[in-house]
Amino acid sequence: MYLVFTYFVNRLKKSINGLRFESGSLLTSSSALSKVIPVSDQNTRAMGVAMRPSEYTAALIQVLRTRGARLHGAAVLEIGSGSGVVLAALAALGAASLYGVDIEEEAIAEGSSLLQELGYADIARIERGNMWAPVAGRRFDLIAANLPHFPMHPVEFKDRLPSWSCGGSDGRHLLNPFLDGLAAHLAPGGHAVITHNAFVSLELSRSMLRQHGLSLRIAQTCLVYIPVEKLVLLTPSVLGTEEGKSIHRYGPHAFADMHIVEIGVAGTIA
Ligand SMILES: C[S@@+](CC[C@H](N)C(=O)[O-])C[C@H]1O[C@@H](n2cnc3c(N)ncnc32)[C@H](O)[C@@H]1O
Repeated sequence: MYLVFTYFVNRLKKSINGLRFESGSLLTSSSALSKVIPVSDQNTRAMGVAMRPSEYTAALIQVLRTRGARLHGAAVLEIGSGSGVVLAALAALGAASLYGVDIEEEAIAEGSSLLQELGYADIARIERGNMWAPVAGRRFDLIAANLPHFPMHPVEFKDRLPSWSCGGSDGRHLLNPFLDGLAAHLAPGGHAVITHNAFVSLELSRSMLRQHGLSLRIAQTCLVYIPVEKLVLLTPSVLGTEEGKSIHRYGPHAFADMHIVEIGVAGTIA
């Protein structure tokens, strides 16, 4: 608790010059925080939280939190570690070592800074690289991933690079190499826990994994909000097939089913 409090105080101290306050307000109480105006992308960057975790990451962490006992002492890897928050959650759950891989320079800096400020630097390593390349030949007890797998062509969305969420026209641009390389990086008895949009074929993922002796099960399904600016980028054929199935629209508002999927050798996943 103290570590978390110290972490936020340090972040606020660092960012104080980058924020704008209503005249006369002092940052002396939590009520003063509400006087911070406006919470723009620029300001969140100044606070060191440019890589704002999404609902996908939240759901992933929720499932990982139910695996507490299994994670104690585990060697864990996250592919696409972004803000580093999933690794931080895994460390808080008792993981013995943390390894992050991300393609973006900014993710390496932000993830490393988060883990250092939370006191996990000694057990953590984050490397820049493509997918499995930095961990060739290495195996892990748990592998987590919230990969970019939104079916769309590469465009920037909400100030994030295309590599944040674009999965190519079928959403599988990164998902497929992840699934193909997974078996070679799982330690005996190891598992993976990943996000998997329901509008990206789970059956195809299942049959790809079967070829490597792995099976999957849905650990949780939740609804995620798809802002209209993102919905218009969705590959039209996917929208055409999935609307009313895994994509639910109410006027201008759209939601989609999203699974948290657990993967392991058949018979070892609960
Ligand atoms: C949806 S974000 C998830 C981030 C993280 N879970 C979080 O909440 O901060 C996907 C991440 O995958 C990374 N990424 C994209 N392509 C990658 C690749 N080929 N290899 C490794 N990481 C990649 C992106 O840079 C981004 O940080």
